[in-house]
Parts: sequence; structure tokens; C-alpha cells
Amino acid sequence: MKIVVKKDKLEAAKYAARLLADELKANPETVFGLATGRTMEPLYAELCEIYKAEKLDFSKAVSFNLDEYAGLPGSDVNSYRAYMQMNLFDHVNFKSTNLPDGVAPDAEAEAVRYDNAIKAAGLDIQLLGIGNNGHIGFNEPGTAFDSRTRHVKLTDATIEQNQGLFPKPEDMPRYAFTMGIGTIMEAKKIILVATGAAKTGILAAAVAGKVTEDVPASVLQNHSNVIIVADEDAAAEVPAELIAAE
Ligand code: F6R
Repeated sequence: MKIVVKKDKLEAAKYAARLLADELKANPETVFGLATGRTMEPLYAELCEIYKAEKLDFSKAVSFNLDEYAGLPGSDVNSYRAYMQMNLFDHVNFKSTNLPDGVAPDAEAEAVRYDNAIKAAGLDIQLLGIGNNGHIGFNEPGTAFDSRTRHVKLTDATIEQNQGLFPKPEDMPRYAFTMGIGTIMEAKKIILVATGAAKTGILAAAVAGKVTEDVPASVLQNHSNVIIVADEDAAAEVPAELIAAE
């Protein structure tokens, strides 16, 4: 695990966007695993800038998002499909982009379909954020490390973290689809981005604490190709000897 610390959230976003751009340049057919959330907004803005400035070409690349709210169609402004269109997909030329269908009539079948599609494509690089409770995707504390893509109930901590993004907080869905931890761990490379003081304690627990299902992100200590990109606030409790000299 390589841990890179940048001055602030913008510098962290720039560093992570550069990693994604370099990945695409090295392999135009990259299969990207993508994330949503506040952390990713400056990252995608930067990736769009690099796309224009360096004429990146995503036309042979495909993407699979980590998760989607259950019960929201992609046309709903609060869906993760809408977030991705607004922040990235409307601005770059991906060959195809994939998210779970939040309104699929059979949730279990949808989860299996999505997991199979990811497995068939093979994730080259998975981008992750981290929840205040250590979740990755919507894999909440206690999730089995070998879990696959599935329909899940969100925890109170996650509802509290995200409901402010809804015009009416009570409208935030209570269920979602998420890639499983086992699914995520099959990616060849993983980049986790953590910024802001709300992530300080949980980031230290994830990278330097015990590997435990109580802290889902701690599973990344078991993966052979992980880069953690944090800002100084989020990295404040990460032991200095774990931080890469840049
Ligand atoms: C989003 C996702 C979540 C977020 C996490 C951090 O697709 O899977 O795990 O990455 O909740 O969210 P922010 O960046 O809003 O702090």
C-alpha cells in the first residue's frame, strides 16, 4: 500500500486524476471502476480539464460505478447516474458507462447481472472514497470480505452522512446496490481518495489498524496494488512512517 499525502483536497484530487489519466494513456481499453461522493467532485473536474488539455481518449474505455441508490431511476437528479453524467460522463467520450439499475424490478437479479458484467469485463483500476464509518461502496461495517454485488440496507451513519445532499433529507433512499468487497478486491489496482477532517480517524484505522470486517476499508491492506491519496487533514493520524516521500 502506497500512501500519498497532499496539502489539501484540490491537490489530492489533482494527483488522483493524474493517476487515472496515466492509466488511460497506458491502456486505452481501461476498465474503470468509479465512485461518487463529494470527494470525487474536484477529481472529476480535474480529469475533465486533463481530457481537454491533453486530448485524452476514452472511446475504447468502459466504466462500472460502485453503487446506486435503490428506488431512484437514472433520470432522478439525486441518482448516482445523474451525478456521473453531470460530473464526468457528459464531458468525456467513454465507450460505455455502467451503473446498477436502481429501479430494476428484481433487485437480486439486477445485482447478479451487474456483478457478472463486472467480472466479464475485469476492473483494471477501481476508484474508492471512504465513508465516515469506513464503508467502501455501500459495504457497511460487518460486511463479509468475500461479498459480491448486492442489494443492501444503508446504515444510520451513512444516511446521516449523505442525506444533506437531498433537497428533503427524508427522501434519501434507505436501500442501495453496491459492488461487493470481493468484487472490488478483484480490481488489478485500487485508488482510495480521502479528504477532510471527518475522515481522519477512520483513515488511520483503515490503513494502520487491524484488518477487520468492522472497518470495511481495512481490507485494502490485503490487496497488492493500492494507492491511498489523502489530504493533510484526512492523513493527520496516519503514522508518518507509512507515508510515501514524494
Ligand atoms: C460513493 C461511495 C461511497 C463514498 C463515501 C465517501 O460511490 O461508494 O463509499 O465514496 O461515502 O463519500 P464522500 O466523498 O461524499 O465523503
